[in-house]
Amino acid sequence: MADTINLSDIFSYDQNFQTIMLNMLQTALDSSFQGVMITEAEPGYPIIYVNQAICEMTGYTTKEFIGQSPSMLQGKNSDPKVLQELADKIDAGEIFHGRTFNYRKDGSEFMMEWKIVPIRGMEGEIANYLAIQREVRDGELSDGSLDTKLSI
Ligand SMILES: Cc1cc2nc3c(=O)[nH]c(=O)nc-3n(C[C@H](O)[C@H](O)[C@H](O)COP(=O)(O)O)c2cc1C
Repeated sequence: MADTINLSDIFSYDQNFQTIMLNMLQTALDSSFQGVMITEAEPGYPIIYVNQAICEMTGYTTKEFIGQSPSMLQGKNSDPKVLQELADKIDAGEIFHGRTFNYRKDGSEFMMEWKIVPIRGMEGEIANYLAIQREVRDGELSDGSLDTKLSI
């Protein structure tokens, strides 16, 4: 795994630490090319944040997302095995990474790839879940490159 840089090490001597970190997080999430969704860690996982990329990908507005369950994106071809794996990972407090069919507001189907990461509070409890989401086009691998095996 690649090394990660701990932002609190860089900013720990700055008195504006909290403000800078919050502004940085907000800017990064708002302007990401990938969809970002944050939910409560409660049953149904009510959505509390979505960025513009998710709205563009799905056709729903921020207002239409807030308070709903992410399962609003599911439909007839959503894979129950993938969703079960997701539920198992969440129960175990682990990171989930998978793909399944999801549905836009206009009913059109697309392949969603997403990662869900638990966000922990000061006591180590899971306070929220954060998902990074993107649409996968035909024959595309997780890193965005084309699967040449598929195109032969
Ligand atoms: C942060 C987060 C993001 C999610 N995003 C999606 C998504 O984009 N597409 C999808 O089909 N399910 C998504 N889910 C999964 C559904 O919410 C889940 O299948 C549904 O909540 C039912 O889960 P349960 O059966 O454990 O209650 C997401 C879940 C979480 C916690």
